[in-house]
Amino acid sequence: MRSIFDSRLKISQVIRSLNEDEEDLLPLRVANLLPGQKVGFNVYLKVKNSTAKRMEFVICCPQGEIFQPRWLETLKEKSIPWVYINSADLPLVLSYLQHNLSQLLDDNQLSSHEKAVLVYDATLLWTRHFFTCEKERMGKQIIQGTELVEGLFKCIQNKKFHYDLILQLCNHGQPLYTHSINTCLIGLGFTRYLGWPEARIKAFGLGALLHDIGMTKIPPEVLYKSGPLLDEEWRQVQHHPADGFNMLKTFTNLCYDALLMVHQHHEQGDGGGYPDGLKLVSIHPWARILRIIDSYEALTARRNWRPPLPPFEALSVMRNQCDQSGVYHPNLLTFFIKFLAG
Ligand SMILES: [Fe+2]
Ligand SMILES: [Fe+2]
Repeated sequence: MRSIFDSRLKISQVIRSLNEDEEDLLPLRVANLLPGQKVGFNVYLKVKNSTAKRMEFVICCPQGEIFQPRWLETLKEKSIPWVYINSADLPLVLSYLQHNLSQLLDDNQLSSHEKAVLVYDATLLWTRHFFTCEKERMGKQIIQGTELVEGLFKCIQNKKFHYDLILQLCNHGQPLYTHSINTCLIGLGFTRYLGWPEARIKAFGLGALLHDIGMTKIPPEVLYKSGPLLDEEWRQVQHHPADGFNMLKTFTNLCYDALLMVHQHHEQGDGGGYPDGLKLVSIHPWARILRIIDSYEALTARRNWRPPLPPFEALSVMRNQCDQSGVYHPNLLTFFIKFLAG
């Protein structure tokens, strides 16, 4: 068939930059499209319409078409890293990505870092869908998520993958979703560093990916508020670990340790956390670990009310909190600092 790549559209019109705030169209890395395979959803390019002086999306591969190798070559030649998909097509896109996952992970042409970038991209789409689409939140979707976490683990397990690459992979574009994946990714690396067995690492990773799902119950105007929270708003925020536990407790693929971790991830060693104000000795070991990773990830990410802290500064803040009031498990925090130091 004739495609936009064969038409008169000047490829120089294609917008290369990534804008995270597009209405219904979501970015997908070009490298996540396999040449020679049928694509079950429309794939768009973002282009500049110089006549109408506006940005628009044009279909570059219609639903049901085979993604031609020459199209991929054109995109690569022109250094276009992103195509777009319609958010309504996410279930189809996720099935496509899940179907291609093992082929991607076994591709000898790609480095483990390149593979991790692509699995990260797919996991971001999955997290967004699982968090926002309640009616699609079923066992089948959890299996998809489990496979993606296993894929991420497979990448970082590779001998050539250095732990410092984990932090390079973490991006902070879409706050709740990237926070979830970054926490999962750092969790996979840290529990591996601690010498955990593989099955436990993956179970921890899935729990970490989902730990903040209860946040979806908080109205956006509260979640992204830049000023101080009112008492009632703060109560809503404090409810998210219990909401997350309730939303996930029926999924049998999620082990009970992971569920308890979701429930207790804001408990603090000094008893000043929530929802139950537990002391360190009563906090589940997985939740103690997640508390550290969660804080570190949040401090190093940009928030509406503050810039991101550099890693060293974030760790100093955490070390001070730990020394002054025992927020974190001190030995675990020391291990975490050593882990990040490589
Ligand atoms: Fe949380
Ligand atoms: Fe969190």
